Amino acid sequence: MKPIVIAIDGPAASGKGTLARRLAAAFNLPYLDTGLLYRVVARRVLDHGGNPADPAIATAQARGLGRLDLGRDDLRTPEVDLAASAVASIAAVRAALLDFQRNFAASSGAVLDGRDIGTIVFPQAAVKLFITASLDVRAQRRFAERQIQGHTATLDAVRADLAVRDEADRTRTAAPLRPADDAHVLDTSALDADHAFAAAAAWVNQAL
Ligand code: C5P
Repeated sequence: MKPIVIAIDGPAASGKGTLARRLAAAFNLPYLDTGLLYRVVARRVLDHGGNPADPAIATAQARGLGRLDLGRDDLRTPEVDLAASAVASIAAVRAALLDFQRNFAASSGAVLDGRDIGTIVFPQAAVKLFITASLDVRAQRRFAERQIQGHTATLDAVRADLAVRDEADRTRTAAPLRPADDAHVLDTSALDADHAFAAAAAWVNQAL
């Protein structure tokens, strides 16, 4: 059987990461959280005192990705959220990260989640899912995660950060966040993780 690619896109805190991990385990596929690539590039730019919106600096870091450490534990801070969104709007940064993502799935298929997996990275993916949820629900989820991590941001600040990032991701010219024409769209505002998984697994099974 040809290795299958499951492409999962959607805005921040839509539940796509949880769903992607569950699908990867259920269908025995490797999983890549592609947001980590943009986060690690952003983190490296910040570590070097650079401006994440500077194309030359951000692109140099993206080209050095092979040496970057995706396992760093300081990639999910509010500062990195915004810096990742800034580096992600630079077309040359996105181009530098394409081969890594495509090679990841080359031998055994994969589940990848991000913003442009079904539209740009794997337009031929066997299954494309676009996961959404209302801004309020997403803010609640992200706020709860941040509290567990020990961050002190208020719910209002978390909601505002998500709204800014979503707007930037949707309106940028390089690979804007949008569902592929053939994506299954799933709104998880009123769905728990089990129901979201059941719906997605049914679509995957249809494609096998
Ligand atoms: O998914 P996560 O919130 O970790 O992604 C961080 C940022 O990286 C997003 O706000 C988005 O700007 C960018 N990103 C992207 N394309 C992807 C994955 C993430 O532009 N495939």
